[in-house]
Amino acid sequence: MSLLAVDVSQNGSIKNVDSSRSVVEMEEFDFSRLPDRLRTLNMERQRSFDERSLAEIPIGLSPHPPSRADNFNRVLDHLDSIFSPGRRSGFNTPSSNFVYEPHPMTAEAWETLRRSLVYFRGRPVGTIAALDSSEEKLNYDQVFVRDFVPSALAFLMNGEPEIVKNFILKTLRLQSWEKKIDRFQLGEGVMPASFKVLHDPARNTETLIADFGESAIGRVAPVDSGFWWIILLRAYTKSTGDSSLAEMHECQKGMRLILSLCLSEGFDTFPTLLCADGCCMIDRRMGVYGYPIEIQALFFMALRCALVLLKQDTQGKEFIERIIKRLHALSYHMRNYFWLDLKQLNDIYRYKTEEYSHTAVNKFNVMPDSLPEWVFDFMPIHGGYFIGNVGPSKMDFRWFCLGNCIAILSSLATPEQATAIMDLIESRWEELVGDMPLKVCYPAIENHEWRIVTGCDPKNTRWSYHNGGSWPVLLWLLTAACIKTGRPQIARRAIELAEARLSKDGWPEYYDGKLGRYIGKQARRYQTWSISGYLVAKMMLEDPSHLGMVAHEEDKQLKPVLKRSSSWTF
Ligand code: GLC
Repeated sequence: MSLLAVDVSQNGSIKNVDSSRSVVEMEEFDFSRLPDRLRTLNMERQRSFDERSLAEIPIGLSPHPPSRADNFNRVLDHLDSIFSPGRRSGFNTPSSNFVYEPHPMTAEAWETLRRSLVYFRGRPVGTIAALDSSEEKLNYDQVFVRDFVPSALAFLMNGEPEIVKNFILKTLRLQSWEKKIDRFQLGEGVMPASFKVLHDPARNTETLIADFGESAIGRVAPVDSGFWWIILLRAYTKSTGDSSLAEMHECQKGMRLILSLCLSEGFDTFPTLLCADGCCMIDRRMGVYGYPIEIQALFFMALRCALVLLKQDTQGKEFIERIIKRLHALSYHMRNYFWLDLKQLNDIYRYKTEEYSHTAVNKFNVMPDSLPEWVFDFMPIHGGYFIGNVGPSKMDFRWFCLGNCIAILSSLATPEQATAIMDLIESRWEELVGDMPLKVCYPAIENHEWRIVTGCDPKNTRWSYHNGGSWPVLLWLLTAACIKTGRPQIARRAIELAEARLSKDGWPEYYDGKLGRYIGKQARRYQTWSISGYLVAKMMLEDPSHLGMVAHEEDKQLKPVLKRSSSWTF
């Protein structure tokens, strides 16, 4: 297949379009070729980014000394050119030859994961959300797109790509359904939040039903599903080396439909995506409406994935051009306005308000009085993070785990920012990890604020569920981020904590309490993504080459890479 090699001029336009590289070849370094001995790479610790102003950093250029992650990536890059291609990642799990001492929990986890498989007409097409028969099912008997991602990664790492391919194709078919809520028709590209196989024993038939938000609590469409779908397609392609799935006409079209939804022109003044509350992992009202970090980070990552997956045909080219422009604008916006460290916090604390015109420093007219008390104590000297939301007169300072980890993996975070996020996690270990990894967000909202923000949601009381609850599934994202930043010891500590309880407690969906010490009030047991999240974390730590499936190097697609092709122009 022919793909587009891009050279971006300063205003973001493509100057040269020329390459005949395949999807896999086009990718940056290939972690799958990393030898075992590199697992113990011990990178020197770097100073965090806390005292630097991001506004001074040109996009894609780092004027700072190389971070440990830079070094790590450079080594990987070097190895990429030395080791022969062709080896798949995923040979270190129970069905493989790679020998390591498995934790007794991994066997149980694999067994339970396999029991959660959902079949459609004899083929595995996904995994059920939870295998808990003691609680009311609600929609936990469905295959959720976001929940399937860690399951898919576990199967890919284990050299079992078939189920992932089936899932990608099945959900693609569902995308083409006509989607309606009452009399209103949803966008063509919307991917389902979840689907279910219906068996009719009388007729001996099986049919699928899907939920695009029309049955979901709150009736919100899952903005994250389409992004996860694209991310998974790239993970499949990267892991198997098989680009034929991504090249299929249907997959190309599916991708373009998803992209059309989020790249369309409108009234936006920001490159970020405007969303309703409850449109992502946090699928209930939790005050994340506006520009939630989770969606912005997934959006960025999906754009980067699409950039290498889209074909260079007439339609593909047009999208690639739009993607590149958006990536530039989005990374600029996020790195400048969502980033918070000690210096930035101090600047906001001293902000003037009611400024007008282009010279305004306080661009969104944020009132310093709206700064919550907790953030002053929470902010370490070394460290920083992408805050939850930024909009007109609005900054949600809460820490959200998923968005920050995805920012690291997709390289939305600069290497310095990625290091700073890891520094923050280390310095605020008790708050963010506590007894059970990992807080979905921090801190919890309570009392009057909880009433106003959640609409008195009894499931989202303080330190429970989405409101400061601890979600074991997030372990895989933390582990991936740790490996990418060259700090696997942080992941090891978190995994040990999970191993002390997860299996004994029956793999709960989430934990409650400030430290995450209690099994969640309404948590399902045998929650599949708690199980697969653990497996993925373990496998990645054992074989960091798996990281390549879900990680991107800094802005490589936006910068020409000389060694890949001699036909790029500058
Ligand atoms: C809950 C979670 C959501 C997840 C679903 C199925 O609603 O908030 O993120 O997809 O359960 O596990």
